[in-house]
Amino acid sequence: MRARVRAVPPPWVALAGAAAAIALASAAAYGQDESPAAQGKRLFTEQGCYGCHTVGKMGTAIAPDLSHVGSKYTETSLRGWLREPKAQKPRAHMPKIEMTEKEAQGLAAYLASLK
Ligand code: HEC
Repeated sequence: MRARVRAVPPPWVALAGAAAAIALASAAAYGQDESPAAQGKRLFTEQGCYGCHTVGKMGTAIAPDLSHVGSKYTETSLRGWLREPKAQKPRAHMPKIEMTEKEAQGLAAYLASLK
């Protein structure tokens, strides 16, 4: 069998790749191309909320269904809940999930839209 030698790409390939990665990372970090609610919808999957909650037919029903949670709470109280469940309910079973303020904002906007 013949050994395969991988050609070393010219340096500009790596540079272009790095630039693209930085552009992608900052777009994701600042959510420039995404509304807060769209970002929240994506985070709902990424942060594993579906592991305990359902929205419509999706998810696992071990925690309250969130299909209409937006008619139950305000966006502000939803954000507070996500930041620190125990602050609103001392015996909360829901774990505090690590997220940035911006992510909590996006998730709260998404949840508030579920009416
Ligand atoms: C390990 C399971 C678990 C995960 C993961 C989880 N939750 Fe919860 N969540 C709960 C439980 C249990 C409750 C019920 C309140 C309590 O903690 O006793 C709850 C309550 C809520 C409520 C209030 C619902 C109501 O009707 O009062 C919201 C909103 C909520 N969760 C959103 C989320 C979001 C958004 C995520 C993802 C970032 C998430 N949860 C992840 C278990 C979970």
